[in-house]
Parts: sequence; C-alpha cells; structure tokens
Amino acid sequence: MAKDSKRTVLVTGGAGFIGSHTLVELINAGFEVVAVDNFSNSDDTCLKGVEQIVGRKIPFENIDCCDYEAMEKLFQSYEFDSVIHFAAFKAVGESVEMPLKYYRNNITSFLNVLELMQKYNRSNIVFSSSATVYGETDVLPVTEQTPRMPAISSYGNTKQICEDILRDTVASSKIRGIALRYFNPIGAHPSALIGELPRGVPNNLVPFITQTASGVRECLSVFGNDYPTPDGSCIRDYIDVVDLAKAHVSAISRMVEDKNKQNYEIFNVGTGKGTSVLELVSMFEKVNNLKLNYKIAPRRQGDVVAIYADTTLANIELGWKAERSLEDTLASAWKWEQYIRSKK
Ligand code: WQD
Repeated sequence: MAKDSKRTVLVTGGAGFIGSHTLVELINAGFEVVAVDNFSNSDDTCLKGVEQIVGRKIPFENIDCCDYEAMEKLFQSYEFDSVIHFAAFKAVGESVEMPLKYYRNNITSFLNVLELMQKYNRSNIVFSSSATVYGETDVLPVTEQTPRMPAISSYGNTKQICEDILRDTVASSKIRGIALRYFNPIGAHPSALIGELPRGVPNNLVPFITQTASGVRECLSVFGNDYPTPDGSCIRDYIDVVDLAKAHVSAISRMVEDKNKQNYEIFNVGTGKGTSVLELVSMFEKVNNLKLNYKIAPRRQGDVVAIYADTTLANIELGWKAERSLEDTLASAWKWEQYIRSKK
C-alpha cells in the first residue's frame, strides 16, 4: 500500500450530519478522505458544503454499504488504511416499528466493512456508537465502565451488537477499533454551510426547536416537566457536532500513530455537563434573541430521566475535550436553519 494510504480515511455516511463535519475536520488535520453515501437519509447539500468549506472536491461514491460487491470495488479502487463508519439508520421510534429494517441495514453494512477490511488488510476503524447503550442508569455521570443496559429500541440494540461485533473482530484479527459513544450531537459548522437535515418531522430536540423558531413547526412540545430533576424536564449532554467531529480525528490519529493502548477501545464523547430541556430552550431564546412557541406535553415513551458523560478517558487518552460553548452551538444551529430556509 502506498505511503499516503496510512493517512487516508474512508468515511461511510459522509453526506450525513456527523459524517460531513468529520470530513472537514479530517481534511483540516491533513488527512485524505474518500466518502461514500447512498443518500438514504441525506442529499448532496452537505457534501457540496464540505467542498465549499475546504475548497476542493471530495472523492465520493454513491454506494449502499449493504451492497457487498459495490463495496468490494471501492476497497479495490482506493487505498485507505482507516475507516470511519457512520452509515446507519438512526430513528429510534422507526426502529421499534421496523426492527428488521434496522437490523438488516445497520448490521449488514458493518459486517461488509469489517469483512472487506480483513480481506484487503486495512488497519483501523472508528465506529459510531451511542450513549443509548447505557440505557436508564442510576450512575451519573456515566463512564465507559458503567454497565450497558438491555436496549429499549432496535436502533439501540444495533449499536450494542455492532460494538460486540467490533470487539470480537478486533480480538481475532489485525484490525484495531475504537467505538465512540456519542451523547446528543447538535449544532452546525460555524460557516453554516453544513448542518443537520432531518427528513420530515424531526424527532430530536434541537432540529424541532430551530424549525419552530423558523415557523416550519407551530409549537415545540416539551416532553414532561414532572421528572425528578431540578426543573422537571429531562437532562442530556449536548455535544457540539464540530467538537464531535474532532473526536473522530483524535481517534483515527491515535491508531494511525500506534498510540492506542488496546486494540479495541471505547470512549464517551460528550461535554460532561447535563442540560435540561427547559434550560436548553431558554438558552436558545436568549442567544438568538427570539421567543420560542412551546408547551408542556406528556412524557415521551422510552426517554431516560437524565444522562451525561464522564469524559475523563477521552480527555486523557484522546487528548480531546469539547470546546465550543452551548451558547455558540445553539447560535450555529439557528444560523444553519436560516441558511437552509433561505435556499428553499
Ligand atoms: C432530547 C430531550 C426529549 C423532542 C436520541 C437517541 C440517541 C441519539 C440522539 C441518535 C429528551 C426532549 C425532544 C421534542 C422534547 N442517537 N424532546 N421535545 O432521545 O436523548 O437521544 O438522539 O441518532 O440514541 O435516543 O434525543 O433530541 O430526541 O431528545 O421535549 O420535540 O428532548 O424528551 O428529553 P435523545 P432527543
């Protein structure tokens, strides 16, 4: 393999929310990239945005990672030594309605990537895991040692299963892997050229907030104000998407530079700070100088009361820390929403 391939990264799901931000940060850090996506939950808006930000074309292939033959051609055509695997379905509610769709897609694509990495001797993989693997836990903040709970959704279960697939694959091969457990990714690139593009009615809080502010949605429902928290609403750890993207660069660099302590490692990626839904809403109003139409609604099924990360391990081992303030992140989310509306 050519020398440059050591610093070339295949990014699956590269047209998506976290994938597109990670392409930018990889390029900023001097990596070469190859992106694949089948646009099942995205379009080319963010890819074009990435190209505008970095000022060059991104090598891209429209491929479904479940298509083994197409993926094999990709492995034969490009010399990357590392992979960041984002491509997956991620709607929690839909996964409960259509579990087979989630198991087939999220697991098949991951198996294809790992099998091809073995066959074509590729070294490193970062897998997009999720704080959802911790489920409802009494231990706060959660560390990587906090036991995983049985998943409530099929989506969450695919994350647990894929973590286990990675652990076992690493144990029996030369592949090295890092699972990053994301808390709640929000925000957008400061340029507002890339951001989150949910299809239909957003499930997640921040896109619902920004769409309510822009008038696409009439009113935000705050799901529950009778939880055992200081203001009664649920608590989450909201992590800025650019900070999250940088965690991927740190994880890939750790393996490329042979600094990993074990061949399979897990890191929480959050800020370490919990914020309630009502706090987030009022912060959004304040930083963007607007009033949000919202009402208190019944609890949403399946929501955990509170979860936030202990990020000590990522701070020490990855040399990574969330840097952007929640205020700046919420301002970027609003700037992106306005940009997207102006294009439509
Ligand atoms: C956050 C808080 C809601 C919408 C999910 C996945 C997780 C991860 C991120 C994804 C909760 C409240 C929400 C609304 C509200 N993965 N809320 N009104 O549920 O913490 O995590 O997304 O790919 O795996 O489970 O995120 O943004 O949906 O909710 O009051 O209209 O906002 O009840 O307390 P969640 P979320």
